[in-house]
Amino acid sequence: MTEDKQDLVVIKNLKKYFPIKTGFLKKTYVQAVENVSFTIKKGETFGLVGESGCGKTTLGRSIIRLYEPTSGKVFYDGEPVYDDEEKKQPDMLYYRRKMQIIFQDPSASLDPRMTVADIIGEAIDIHKLAQNKQERFEKIIALLDKVGLNSEHANRYPHEFSGGQQQRIGIARALAVEPEFIVCDEPISALDVSIQSQIVNMLEDMQADIGLTYLFIAHDLSVVRHISNRIGVMYLGNLVEVGESNEIYKNPLHPYSKTLLSAVPVPDPKVSRARQRIILQGEIPSPISPPPGCRFHTRCPYAKPICKEAPPKFKELEPNHYAACHLFSN
Ligand SMILES: Nc1ncnc2c1ncn2[C@@H]1O[C@H](COP(=O)(O)OP(=O)(O)OP(=O)(O)O)[C@@H](O)[C@H]1O
Ligand SMILES: [Mg+2]
Repeated sequence: MTEDKQDLVVIKNLKKYFPIKTGFLKKTYVQAVENVSFTIKKGETFGLVGESGCGKTTLGRSIIRLYEPTSGKVFYDGEPVYDDEEKKQPDMLYYRRKMQIIFQDPSASLDPRMTVADIIGEAIDIHKLAQNKQERFEKIIALLDKVGLNSEHANRYPHEFSGGQQQRIGIARALAVEPEFIVCDEPISALDVSIQSQIVNMLEDMQADIGLTYLFIAHDLSVVRHISNRIGVMYLGNLVEVGESNEIYKNPLHPYSKTLLSAVPVPDPKVSRARQRIILQGEIPSPISPPPGCRFHTRCPYAKPICKEAPPKFKELEPNHYAACHLFSN
């Protein structure tokens, strides 16, 4: 299904460490994203899942350089957006237009002192997308219309809206610059269950309409399964598995992916009874001092001596299905 699609975003050995102070003049690092490599294909939805704190937001923001990566490479349509070996800086204004983000918490991501028209208009102004005030206004109204709001909403402030409407404003702001690629960072997890599907449907319609590419971040697999072409699973800053959605669902390879899947509710009671829920031992280790070797070894039911020593390589184990696990090395 996705094999013939072209790569749009190529991520190579991406790393993001946050410096933190641990005492007077003492500094250490949160190793939030460690050596992550994968590609996102043109027009696809790539679902990114993993427990809270595993680095999904950090990875999403580092890809679009909302966070400055620590090292590695990110290519967009073949051109470098970030390259730790290249001194020349890319034209970030250009990429800020191509790549957008929709945030998890819509209320926190909208400036409370700005009207809806100004929030959307700001992006139009930065990228000089309107010749005059009239055109700017018309664009704002068209964007509001696209996300199911209308001209009466333009002069209101974010606090006057419900969570779902605020997320629609956030989506209109992202769309204002006519992007090609959008990082959707848990765009529905802060919303009422009753309106979550409305927002997901809208994102899907927009994708069908203008051929957008999504990196769709979520906590659990049940949210991303239906909307993603492919899925990536993260654990403690590492990408541990990538494959086609159905393949990840039917045939997860990495022990951590199996655990995540075992926690997804299944509608069929027979299947549900047959599927054993795997409960992991112990706590997630700290990303300040992650375990050596495979970061998952302290909780993995299948850990071998090698797992404590060497980080496993990310390998294509089956066609278009990648995992990083010593169980599969010969
Ligand atoms: N600005 C920062 N400074 C220091 N540490 C940070 C910063 N942002 C994130 N972290 C740490 O990096 C790790 C990854 O955080 P991140 O927010 O990317 O995880 P996440 O997978 O998006 O979690 P969630 O599902 O809760 O949104 C966490 O340990 C977090 O505490
Ligand atoms: Mg997050």
